[in-house]
Amino acid sequence: MSVPAAFINAIQRTSVPQFKYFSSIDSTNLIALEWLENSAPDGSIVFADHQRSGRGRFDRNWITQPGSAIAVSIIVRPELHERKYLPLFSPLAGIALTDVLKHNLQIDAQIKWPNDVLINRMKTSGILTESVWNGEELLGLVVGIGVNVLPKSIPTSENLQFPATCLQDHSQFPIDRFDVLAALINAFYYWRSQIHLPEFMNQWQKTLAFHGEKVYIKQKDGSVQITGTLSGLTSNGDLEILSENNQKQTITVGDVHLRPTGPEN
Ligand code: ATP
Ligand code: BTN
Repeated sequence: MSVPAAFINAIQRTSVPQFKYFSSIDSTNLIALEWLENSAPDGSIVFADHQRSGRGRFDRNWITQPGSAIAVSIIVRPELHERKYLPLFSPLAGIALTDVLKHNLQIDAQIKWPNDVLINRMKTSGILTESVWNGEELLGLVVGIGVNVLPKSIPTSENLQFPATCLQDHSQFPIDRFDVLAALINAFYYWRSQIHLPEFMNQWQKTLAFHGEKVYIKQKDGSVQITGTLSGLTSNGDLEILSENNQKQTITVGDVHLRPTGPEN
């Protein structure tokens, strides 16, 4: 399989120790999970130009069209001091991406809690973190990141539960997805080094979508659990919602979905 020179060039601008590149694969997360069990070094990545059955959260599909997107899985072997921050590794990817979009591409993006990345209230990136355990022992995490870069990457609306967009639709300059990939990996490592610091939570809080807006939390069965104003994050990353009678409610990541009460829904 031939690996594009632009991909190799991008990886050389990072400290990725090893990579696997696929022109077409079922899911980069699946390959990365297997590789994690077979001694992949910390920080290794799996990249695919096209995914035939990309995985989303809750067994949903993630669509990756060839030549137009980023589908990457980063293998993380958390060090001892990082183990208490495992739930933060998904938001970490969202923080890294919004940081790159702002500083490298001048695109203002927000994180729809817990970790989808939105531009103008439309989804441009999804993140799925999976873990591998050997009994009580954590072997590691796979942080899978999908980013729509070029217009061809946007799925047709019947495949979507939330409006979608791509990076190129928000920039007047041509965007090179391998440049974005290199910057994203570097930002991921920078923010990983900050995971224990208040700056990490501040950064997440600063980019939180629908802050101060009326939102609702939907359960898996579609029923509405809470309606209120999104007022921020707690110190451990739970979502705070101020209900109509001014009661603070906290929502923990789980099988719930955040939605604005705006025109998207
Ligand atoms: P939530 O978890 O808040 O319900 P969500 O509706 O975005 O968020 P996720 O499970 O995070 O759902 O993401 C999977 C969904 O993303 C799929 O069901 C599909 O609607 C949508 N999707 C799939 N591929 C893409 C893509 N390339 N770009 C944008 N959205 C996509
Ligand atoms: C979501 O929004 O539900 C998460 C989507 C995650 C998609 C990425 S693309 C790279 C990696 N490989 C996968 O199969 N899924 C993740």
